[in-house]
Parts: sequence; structure tokens; C-alpha cells
Amino acid sequence: MSNYEDIFKKVVSHSKEYGYVFQSSEIYDGLAAAYDYGPNGVELKNNIKNYWWKSMVNMHENIVGLDSSIFMHPTTWKASGHIDAFNDPLVDNKDSKKRYRADVLIEDHIAKIEAKIEKDVLKAAKRFGEAFNKEEFLATNGRILDRQKQIDAINEKMNTSLSSNNLEKVKELIEELDIKCPVSGTNNWTDVRQFNLMFKTQMGATADGSSDLYLRPETAQGIFVNFLNVQKTARMKIPFGIAQIGKAFRNEIVARQFIFRMREFEQMEMQFFVRPGEEMKWYAYWKDFRMKWHNSLGMGEDNYRFHDHENLAHYANAATDIEFKFPFGFKELEGIHSRTDFDLKAHQEHSAKKLQYFDPELGESYVPYVVETSIGLDRMFLSVLSNSFREEELENGESRVVLKIPAVLAPIKAAILPLTKKDGMPEKAREIMKILQLDFNCQYEEKDSIGKRYRRQDAIGTPFCITVDHQTLEDNTVTLRDRDTMIQERVSVEKLHSIIAGKVNITKYLA
Ligand code: GAP
Repeated sequence: MSNYEDIFKKVVSHSKEYGYVFQSSEIYDGLAAAYDYGPNGVELKNNIKNYWWKSMVNMHENIVGLDSSIFMHPTTWKASGHIDAFNDPLVDNKDSKKRYRADVLIEDHIAKIEAKIEKDVLKAAKRFGEAFNKEEFLATNGRILDRQKQIDAINEKMNTSLSSNNLEKVKELIEELDIKCPVSGTNNWTDVRQFNLMFKTQMGATADGSSDLYLRPETAQGIFVNFLNVQKTARMKIPFGIAQIGKAFRNEIVARQFIFRMREFEQMEMQFFVRPGEEMKWYAYWKDFRMKWHNSLGMGEDNYRFHDHENLAHYANAATDIEFKFPFGFKELEGIHSRTDFDLKAHQEHSAKKLQYFDPELGESYVPYVVETSIGLDRMFLSVLSNSFREEELENGESRVVLKIPAVLAPIKAAILPLTKKDGMPEKAREIMKILQLDFNCQYEEKDSIGKRYRRQDAIGTPFCITVDHQTLEDNTVTLRDRDTMIQERVSVEKLHSIIAGKVNITKYLA
């Protein structure tokens, strides 16, 4: 097992042990690609949602929110193109009978070449020491350039075949690269075929009177069909945006890597309506804005990169992914798409209702163009969790596992710990809880030794531990321990609120 796989396994089991994520229906041996969020998981999720909503909605005068239903009129999906084109190419290995996404098999092959490049860079960095210039090395080293050429050629072939729906060519590429099934180890593949990702269900009690419905595969369509409702009632002027957080469902061919690819997941999406012809300006604006949002969390700028799409979705004229360095490599975290007027025009046609905006400055009506930002909440959750997980050797020879979650997102902001269960310490600790708990999610804990309690809070990712001891009863001071530095200082109870606020409040990150 590689070091990365090893770390990822540890993150998965840690997240279960500390109440972040559980397998869905675990007592029945689980349901593939469905997960439940435990007590700490739901807090982290809510904090991520809040961080996104504050930045996108509350801090933009021209963006408002929406909460549309999961069930939508079935014609929505005909209009949006999802019935006809929301497909993934699948391929089966005849020996193992395992099913794969053909494009993912190829992307995994590319990831292996990328990993080799990274290895070469590490080796060279070691060899050249301080004098090492990574950019120059990447641009000039013969072996790296060859590898990069290979990657570009594979991407080119894959994208041309996929965008022209030439599935035979996709199969040829898999064979040419000699990609083998990880289970059987053979390259005995079936033909590649398309598979629609939408879940179908029925509405209505009788078979005759029922109609086929789909569980929405993206929240965006709820925004499009409400475009005029929102524009009129909120009196929005173009350019303006509508934001929404909600569940989406996709019958993924291969759902794996924990909560990275699920069949039921949550999206945080914003559709920004602009004048036709101004979409590229706004596309550039939102690319920049969203990257800054990610970087504001301080999880390491090197962990993010853009990946521009060459194989565009049926609705887009430009698209990029913000990729994050997950333990299993750089993968898509968020998509930014210039969706043209595709969706509004299609809904206009299929509904026979005008979806136009009268622009008072231009004195004309038009169907707006749309730039979308779309991030998976569960993927964002995984990026935070995997990036925060550390195993540290301490000076005293002990070790600890700590989640260095950005304090603003941490599920519990402070743990309040009476040193012992007697002498009035629990009462004093609960008094402090009362002062803090309305503004910060706090946890009271009196079981086990103080050292064990610190370790537990480190493992949960709690930025502060507040210990109430004998001295507290005398001079109203407590020991405040910082999760990251483990430094303990004596502070007065009156100062706790502002010290904690200074580290965990959203203003420190987004202002
Ligand atoms: N409305 C545009 C749209 O849905 P997408 O790139 O298909 O675009 C947007 O999805 C984001 O949703 C992705 O960047 C990813 O974070 C998340 N996402 C997509 N499929 C997912 C899945 N099966 N499991 C978890 N997250 C997923």
C-alpha cells in the first residue's frame, strides 16, 4: 500500500471513529456510495455551507438565495439536455465482471504518469538542494517533457473521441494504453457504451395516473426555471446571481473514494446572469473569486490548481475545474462554467413561456447568458478533512493525531474541561459554557484524565481547550490550550470570548 493510500484509509477510519462520517445503513452492511454525517460531520458541513453562503450571498448585494424542490416537472430534464446527453461512457472487464467509467480508467492512467513526474521532481529537489528551480526543471528536463507529451497526446485523443461520441475510439485508446482491470489484471474489455446517470422514480399512486420523474442531477435547473420569479420579486438587475445549496443525485457507474463520488450528494451552486457578450469577463471574475475563496481558508495555495476543459459539457462555451490535491491526487473540487443562454433558451422553448430580461440601460429584452460556480459540499468536506489530518511525534516521545481544520470550520470551537469532578469545578465550567455557547459551539467534558481529553479534542479538531482548575475558583483564570501549538496560557475568563472570536470568527477569514 502506498503512503497516500495508507493516509486515506486512516482518514476514512478516523472520520468514523470521531463521528464525522458513517456508511449509510451500516447495520445492513451499508449501501454503496451513500453516507451519513455524524455529530461532528454535520457541524463541519453546516460551517462549510455557512462559509460559502456568507461569501456568495451575504457579501454580494447582487446575489440572492433560493431553495427549490428536488422533484421537478419531467420536461425540465428534456429541455436541459440531461435525458439525452447526461451520460457517462462505461466499460466492463469480461474477466472480473467489474464495471468502470472508460474516461476514468484513462484519467487514472494519466494520474500515474503525473505521479512519476512528481517523483522526478522530488528526486531532483533532493539532489540539487537550495539551488533547485522547479519551474525551470519542469520546462527543460527531457524525461519530464516526454512524460508531459504523453499526457497531452492521451488527453487529446480522449477528448476528441468523447466529444464526437466515438466510443470505438475510446475503447481503442484503452487498449492502446494497455490499461488493465485492477481486479482481474487483464485487458479483456467489452465495448464502451453510454449510460444515463439520472435516477428515475414515479409520482402518483396509480400506475395509470403516475408520471415518470427524475431525482435532480444538479440543483442548477431549479434556479433556471425560477429565473423570472426571483428577478421580479427580488427586483434584481443584470448582472445578478441566484445561489442554492441542496441535494443532487447521480447513478454513478463507479462510486468510490469514500465521499468523493457519491450517488446522493450536496451541491452549492450559483448561477450568475449577465448580458450576452459579457460572459467571458464574468467567467474570468468568478474563476478568480472562487480561487481566492478557497485560498482564504489557508489550506495551502499549492493544493489547488485550475484544469481547463477541452471536452465541454453540452451547455458550455468555456469551463474549468478547481482541482484539489486529495490524498489520491489532484481531482475536481469545483466547476466554473460559462453556460451561455443554453438553459434559459431551452426552457423558454419547451415551456413556451418567455424567459427574457428587459435591460433598462440598453432599452432591449434578451435571454441572459449564465456563468455558474458549482462546488460539491461533500468534496469540500473531504478536502478539509484529508488536508487537516496529521500524525505528529511530540517532543516527549508520545504521538498524537490531530485534525488541523481551519478554525472557522471546526465543528467544536472550544472544549470546557473541569480538571476534576469535584470542588465546584464542574459548576464553574458550566458557568463558562453559558458565557460562550451562544456564539461558539462548545463541548463540556469531564470524563478521563486531562491529557486524554486533550488528545480526544485534538482528534476532533477543536481549536481551544479551556481547563478549569483550583486556581480558577480563586482568581477566575483558566488554562487555554491551543490545538495547533499545544501552548497553554493562563487567561482570565472575561477574555475568553474575544480570544476565541479572534481565531474562529468568519470576519477574520472573509473580511
Ligand atoms: N451544475 C453543474 C454541475 O453539476 P458538475 O461538474 O457535474 O457540474 C459540480 O458538478 C460539482 O459537484 C463537482 O465539481 C463536484 O464537486 C460535485 N459532484 C459532482 N458529482 C458528484 C458525485 N457523484 N459525488 C460528490 N460530488 C459530486
